[in-house]
Amino acid sequence: MTVIEAVAARQILDSRGNPTVEVDVRLADGSLGRAAVPSGASTGAAEAIELRDGDPKRFHGKGVATAVANATGPLADAVRGLDAEDQAAVDAALIDCDGTPNKSRLGANAILGISLATAKAAAAAKGVPLYRFLRRDTEPRLPRPMINIVNGGAHADNPLDFQEFMISPVGAPTFFEAVRMGSEIFHTLRRSLAAAGHNTNVGDEGGFAPQFTTADEALTFVLEAITASGYEPGTDVAICLDPAASEFFKGGAYDYAGEGVSRSVEEHVAYLSGLLRRYPIVSIEDPMAQDDLAGWKLLTDREGATTQLVGDDVFCTDAARLRAGIDDGYANAILIKVNQVGTLTETLSTVDTARRAGYRVVMSHRSGETEDTTIADLAVATGCGQIKTGSVSRSDRTAKYNRLIRIEEELNLPFGRI
Ligand code: PGA
Ligand code: ZN
Repeated sequence: MTVIEAVAARQILDSRGNPTVEVDVRLADGSLGRAAVPSGASTGAAEAIELRDGDPKRFHGKGVATAVANATGPLADAVRGLDAEDQAAVDAALIDCDGTPNKSRLGANAILGISLATAKAAAAAKGVPLYRFLRRDTEPRLPRPMINIVNGGAHADNPLDFQEFMISPVGAPTFFEAVRMGSEIFHTLRRSLAAAGHNTNVGDEGGFAPQFTTADEALTFVLEAITASGYEPGTDVAICLDPAASEFFKGGAYDYAGEGVSRSVEEHVAYLSGLLRRYPIVSIEDPMAQDDLAGWKLLTDREGATTQLVGDDVFCTDAARLRAGIDDGYANAILIKVNQVGTLTETLSTVDTARRAGYRVVMSHRSGETEDTTIADLAVATGCGQIKTGSVSRSDRTAKYNRLIRIEEELNLPFGRI
C-alpha cells in the first residue's frame, strides 16, 4: 500500500520571491507527501546543482520549469512502483536516473523534492509524524536553536562582512523557553538599534540588517541586548557566528571590504581568536574559506578544543568531504543542509559519518526558504542537538520554530546541548 503511484510537481515561490520546486508524492493507499525545496545565496562550490532555466524572460532566469518537468518526467518514471518506505531504494533510483556525481543533469532541486516528499508520504501512510518515521537509532531530542538576529554578507544590503550573528539560549530548560528568550532579545535589540538611530529593516533570514561595518559593532549591540533582556551572557545565552568566509576570501587573503581592511590567513585567525576572547562566542561556522584548508587546520588546532567550528561550504553535507576533514583534523562540527547533497538518504549518511567521528551536527535551513518544516522533524529524528533556522521573525523561519514547539508539546524529549 505504500507503493509510489504518482508524482506531481510545480513552481512555487520561496521567501525571497524566487521560484522553487514543490513536489507531491502520492501512494497507492492515497497517502500524500508534499515537500518544497530551499535555496541558498552563499552557496558552497561543491554543492549539488540547483537547476535553473536561465530564460531571462521568465523569473529573471531563475525559473525551475525544467526541474519540475524532470520531476514529473524521468524521475517520476524511476520511482513509480517503488515502496516509499524504502527510502534508500527510492533515493538510489533518483541518483541513478540522474547519472551525474552532482545531480546536474536533472537537478538536485527536482531530486530532493521527490526524496523528501516520499518520506512524508510514507509517514502519512503509517499515520505517524515525520520525526517519528525518520527516527534513527539515536535518541530523538529537541534541538537547541541558533537564532540569527543580525544579518550581513550576502544576506543583507549593508557593509557588514560577516553573514550571521546568532544567539543560542544555552541556559534555556526547554525549546519553548529558548524561543521565548530569543524573541525577547530580538525585540530588545530592535529598540536599542532604533534608539541609536539605526534602521531596523531585516535581511533574508529575518535578522536586523543595520549599516554596521564591523563585527565588533554588531557584537556590542547583541551583547547589550542579551544583558538588557535580563540574561547572563555566556551562561543563559551564548553567541554563535557564521562569517561565511568563502564569500570574502580573495587572492589568498580575507578581504573585509565593509571594514576596509585585508587580513592574511594568519591575521584572520588571530582576529577570530581575539573575538573569542572578548565575547561569549561558543560556535563559529565557516570561519575559514572552503578552499583555505591550511587556514581551517590552523584555526582548529588553535581554538577547536574549546570552540565549536562548523563546516558548511567546506563540507557541503557530503560524507566524503567530511571524511577528509575528519582525517586531516579540521573543523569539529558540520552544518547539514538537505539541498547541498540532494537526497534524504545521503543527508542521513553524512549525519551518521559525523556522529561516528564525534563531530557535532547542526541541522540547517537555507537563506531562501518556504513554509516547509522538514528540517525541524529531521533535527528531532536525528537527535542532532542543534538547529539553525534564522531569526524569530518572518514566517519562513518561524514555521520551523513553531513546528518544534508543537513537537515539544507532543513529546517529553530531552533538550539539545551545544
Ligand atoms: P545560504 O546561507 O543558505 O545563503 O547558503 C546560509 C549559510 O551560509 O549557512
Ligand atoms: Zn554558512
